[in-house]
Amino acid sequence: ALVSLRQVLDQAAEHSYGVPAFNVNNLEQIQAILQAAQACQSPVILQASAGARSYAGEPFLRKMIEAAVEMYPDLPIVMHQDHGASPAVCMQSIRSGFSSVMMDGSLLADAKTPASYEYNVDVTRRVAEMAHAVGVSVEGELGCLGSLESGMAGEEDGVGAEGQLTHEQMLTDPQQAVDFVAKTGVDALAIAIGTSHGAYKFTRKPTGDILAIERIAEIHRALPNTHLVMHGASSVPQEWLAIVREFGGDMPETYGVPVEEIQRGIQFGVRKINIDTDIRLAMTGALRRAMSQDRREFDPRKFLKAATQAARDICEARFQAFGCAGMA
Ligand code: G3H
Ligand code: 13P
Ligand code: NA
Ligand code: ZN
Repeated sequence: ALVSLRQVLDQAAEHSYGVPAFNVNNLEQIQAILQAAQACQSPVILQASAGARSYAGEPFLRKMIEAAVEMYPDLPIVMHQDHGASPAVCMQSIRSGFSSVMMDGSLLADAKTPASYEYNVDVTRRVAEMAHAVGVSVEGELGCLGSLESGMAGEEDGVGAEGQLTHEQMLTDPQQAVDFVAKTGVDALAIAIGTSHGAYKFTRKPTGDILAIERIAEIHRALPNTHLVMHGASSVPQEWLAIVREFGGDMPETYGVPVEEIQRGIQFGVRKINIDTDIRLAMTGALRRAMSQDRREFDPRKFLKAATQAARDICEARFQAFGCAGMA
C-alpha cells in the first residue's frame, strides 16, 4: 500500500534500522527494487528527482509507481519527491499523489547556489504547512552536501552547489538543526556530513577525517525525534566499477561511502539512506557486459533483464545490510 515517509521511518526508529531510498527513472529500476523488496519483505521508498520527472514524464512515473503499489499490495511503499527546488515544485508533486516530498532549501531554486539559513527556514516551513494539511511527509535539508576531501558538491548535471564549499558549509551544525526543526516542523532532516552526490566522492576509501559519521550522533542526541537522512550514500561497488572498465567503460578510480560506515550511521540515528549512483553503476556494468558477451543478440529485453538483475542484487544487499529486511 502507498504510505507516508513518516509511517515508514517511525517504525524504523522504533526498531533502530535504516531504509534505503532508491531513485527511480524507468520501469526496470522500479521492477528491480520491488522484486528485491518482495524477496526481503522490506518497506520501500521510491524517490523521483526533477531529472527523473523530465526523463520519464510525470504521468509515466506516477503510473509506474501506482502499478508497483497494485502489484505488491502487502508492501509499504513511499512515493517520495527527491530534492524539490521550490515550494511550487513540491505542490505539484503533492497534487500528483506523492506521499512525501523533500524541500531542499539548502540551495536556491536554481539548485546550485547555497541559500541563507533564513531562506531555507522560510521555504521549508511553507511546504511543511501545505504538505501536513493533506497527510504528506516532508524532508528538509540543512547544510550543503559536499565531499570533505575535495570540497566539491560532486554532481555536474543535477542537484548540487556550484564551486568550492567551505568546511563549515559541509557539516550540519547540531544547534542550528534543533532551531530548524522547531521552526519548520519537518518529519525528516537531511544532514551534511561529508558525502556528495554521484560516483566521484572520494579518491581513496574514506576514513574518519573525510567522513564525519560521529557528527550524526551529535545531531541525533540534540534531535532524538527527527528522522535523519543520509544523501550521497552510494558505496560505488568496486566490482561493478571493474566490470564497467573491463567492457569498454572509461571511469577513473573512485570510492563511495562504505556500507559499514552507513551501518554506523544507522546506529547513530540515520533512518533514510539515499542511493542512486549504485543502481546506475550496476545497470551500466551489466548492460556493457551483456551486450559485449552476446553480440548476436538484438532484443533489448535480454540486456535489460541483466541490468534489472544487477540492480536487484544491489537492492537486496542494502535491505539486508540496513536491517529493514523482514520489516514490511
Ligand atoms: O540528487 C541527485 C540524484 O542522484 C538524482 O540525480 O538529477 O540526475 O536525476 P538526477
Ligand atoms: P548517490 O549519488 O550517492 O547515489 O546519492 C543519491 C542521492 O542522495 C539522491 O538524493
Ligand atoms: Na530526498
Ligand atoms: Zn540527494
